[in-house]
Amino acid sequence: TDEPLVLGIETSCDETGVGIVRGNTLLVDAVASSVDEHARFGGVVPEVASRAHLEAMVPTIERACDTAGVALTDVDAIAVTHGPGLAGALLVGVAAAKSLAFALDKPLYGVNHLASHVAVDQLEHGPLPEPCLALLVSGGHSSLLRVTDVTGDVDPMGATIDDAAGEAFDKVARLLGLPFPGGPHVDRVARDGSTVAIDFPRGLTSRRDLERHRFDFSFSGLKTAVARWVEARERSGEPVPVADVAASFQEAVCDVLVRKALDAASSEGIEDLLIGGGVAANSRLRGMAEERAAKLGIRVRVPRPGLCTDNGAMVAALGSTMVARGRTPSPLDLPADSSLPV
Ligand code: KG4
Ligand code: ZN
Repeated sequence: TDEPLVLGIETSCDETGVGIVRGNTLLVDAVASSVDEHARFGGVVPEVASRAHLEAMVPTIERACDTAGVALTDVDAIAVTHGPGLAGALLVGVAAAKSLAFALDKPLYGVNHLASHVAVDQLEHGPLPEPCLALLVSGGHSSLLRVTDVTGDVDPMGATIDDAAGEAFDKVARLLGLPFPGGPHVDRVARDGSTVAIDFPRGLTSRRDLERHRFDFSFSGLKTAVARWVEARERSGEPVPVADVAASFQEAVCDVLVRKALDAASSEGIEDLLIGGGVAANSRLRGMAEERAAKLGIRVRVPRPGLCTDNGAMVAALGSTMVARGRTPSPLDLPADSSLPV
């Protein structure tokens, strides 16, 4: 085919990702994660992440090309996450992408990490419905975006004012003695618990909060409420009902995420909701979103879990869309920008 072959590089957090696509077809998604190195710290350590990216970058590019049966010289364009994310981590990917683009004499496309979490869905479900409403929930972000054109017209409607949703999952998992990253473990143990056992707070949903923060999230109050509840239980000498705490906490997070995402879609007259980021792998979030959206006639798209967490395929997917839509390539002095807005 004459569709462009695009290689994407992602290093915004703790995943070194290299993906290769042809048009909207995924050829390979190679990921090297440093998550195990961060586990003992209970969170991602920026210095450790940057070093791990440096070590993994070239081997991951080689592995991606080998697996896809592609020579670097066949690649038509290089895409790279240039923000937002950890500054030192981003720099490793940006430097690698610039070197490749320069050496191969191919165009370079700097892509926005949040927009690429949206664009990745095309690899699984075909062309993006635009406009769509995107709920992005991960360890680093919790945002509601109105996506008119994923390559450049993305309007943030709301975001967390404190912790990200994944961060809340990780902190509560830690309180419950579950390993890092805790989201998948909370998801698993919650299956044996009751969602209504404990009435945990729904942040920024009171009438007064909704006036100023209709589409914003807050999870630090919820995390504190869980900590207080667990502490009180421990003081009383009774065992902590881990499954019930996990299920009730998860219900509170998902309830607010889904409620606000659907409110945002409805208020904009948008009929497609896309959920991305690591927390989109959550089984309750997926189920609840589909159930409530169906009642409003809103369609829900969620990429498979492997494409929800950070990866290189999402970068290649957005890069490929930029090529297809004739966007101007980035200059070879493209900077990494840790707080790049969408
Ligand atoms: O997108 P991602 O891989 O990296 C960031 O950009 O942060 O997201 C990682 C986050 C972690 O906080 C992890 O606990 C959470 O996604 N996560 C989940 C699930 N799987 C991953 N949270 C809830 N339920 C899950 N099944
Ligand atoms: Zn991410």
